[in-house]
Amino acid sequence: MSSLQHVNPRVREMRVSPHSALRSLAARITQEIITGAQKPFKDVIDVSSCDPHKAGMKPISFVRQVLAVCLYPQLLEDNSLPLDVKLRAQSFLEVCDGKSVGSYTASSGSLHVRQSIAEFIMRRDAGVPSYANNIFISAGLQRALMVVVKLLASGEGETQTGVLTPIPCPHTLPMLLDEAGVMLVPYQLREDRGWVVDLEELHRALKTARGRCKPRAIYISNPGNPTGHVQDRKSIEEVIQFAAAERLLLLVDEVHQDSVYGQSKEFISYKKVLFEMGKEYSETVELVSLNSLSSACMGECGLRAGYMEVVNMDPDVMLFVDSVLCGDISTPVTGQLALDLMVNPPKPGDPSYKTYTQEILLTQTTVAQNAQRACEVLNDLPGMSCQPATGGIFLYPRLHVPPLMIEEAKSLGVEADVLYCQRFLEEEGVCLGAGCENGQEDKKYHIRLCVLAPPVTMEEVLARLRSFHLRLLS
Ligand SMILES: Cc1ncc(COP(=O)(O)O)c(C=O)c1O
Repeated sequence: MSSLQHVNPRVREMRVSPHSALRSLAARITQEIITGAQKPFKDVIDVSSCDPHKAGMKPISFVRQVLAVCLYPQLLEDNSLPLDVKLRAQSFLEVCDGKSVGSYTASSGSLHVRQSIAEFIMRRDAGVPSYANNIFISAGLQRALMVVVKLLASGEGETQTGVLTPIPCPHTLPMLLDEAGVMLVPYQLREDRGWVVDLEELHRALKTARGRCKPRAIYISNPGNPTGHVQDRKSIEEVIQFAAAERLLLLVDEVHQDSVYGQSKEFISYKKVLFEMGKEYSETVELVSLNSLSSACMGECGLRAGYMEVVNMDPDVMLFVDSVLCGDISTPVTGQLALDLMVNPPKPGDPSYKTYTQEILLTQTTVAQNAQRACEVLNDLPGMSCQPATGGIFLYPRLHVPPLMIEEAKSLGVEADVLYCQRFLEEEGVCLGAGCENGQEDKKYHIRLCVLAPPVTMEEVLARLRSFHLRLLS
């Protein structure tokens, strides 16, 4: 490809999102530090998105040990590795073609792993049936989501597919919908009530959208990214009834199901609630529920593996899912193996059980304590207010940006929260995410902060934020 004119026009037209711009700036500053530039900070800390290992969290030993043995089977002779690690590696290699993780798997993922996932879902959902052939493995959750959204995409103008999308939502979602060619139909989460999903607002959003597009699905993030809200059973039932009445496909992103820490809060899957609402719902409402290795406790974002379970989808459409999802390339086998370990961890009595549970508990405690500590610090700052989180890995505090900064942002053609994050990055070396409600009429500014990082890192982030914020307001 010799020049820009050969690049697909659609790609050329793609805007650089504020998130990407901030991350590029963070990379540039890091490079400057490496090449000896003097800065008021010694390193750049990135807490803008979900990448726990990047922020300094450690991988789960059991996962890495089994992966190591599968990649280098001579380690089966290594006596320093726990016996269950070697047994798991051996049994995984047995189901790989040619007994090697270097061979392709079936297009929708290894049947062995899909079976493990189905068994995990059944244990999690107190026996609600789950079947391997309804599970599709993909190179990350977002890839699976993209496939489903692309299958839904059709029409133009009034007939263009619309997807009801929470505001705020994961920062990658608007671009994903745009790329798939569907219209984002916003519904506002209620900040003053701890970011709940509000039924009236869903009806309002749907009504407003009809006539402008054809809403076909509703996306939910539970536990919420970036709000930290965890839906209770009643709220889930309301959304399911709404989807049923309006004939919408439920697209449920449950990647942070392993991170619920609010008092008397628990993760309840949409699938479980759906099946407990009786046949009227369990046999009719179309549901796609998504999960991935990028979950809080695994944090193995770079291994790129996720899965979706589809419920009540037309078998003909399922065939398309299979061919579109995996027609180009199947999910890397190492990622599939890690998924297998995530959903089928060591059991009580296994040699690795104690270390495994300690490591998981450490992550869960870290995220819970960091979220509480960060929320206290943020709420102590003038011009900042933060709803407490009860799950997930983010906080989403509201910023009351000084009028001067709003004016400056306007003159630069950026949103004020983006400018705030940019200045903070330049002056203190911390990369935060800026709010994702830009373009909304009733402008409110927010920052997004991932709280899954070692506590010392979190303290450093909060100290730098406090110092910058007070300086800005002085
Ligand atoms: C809501 C949400 N969805 C999806 C993902 C991750 O997607 P993937 O599995 O493609 O890394 C994240 C990040 O962890 C997330 O917060």
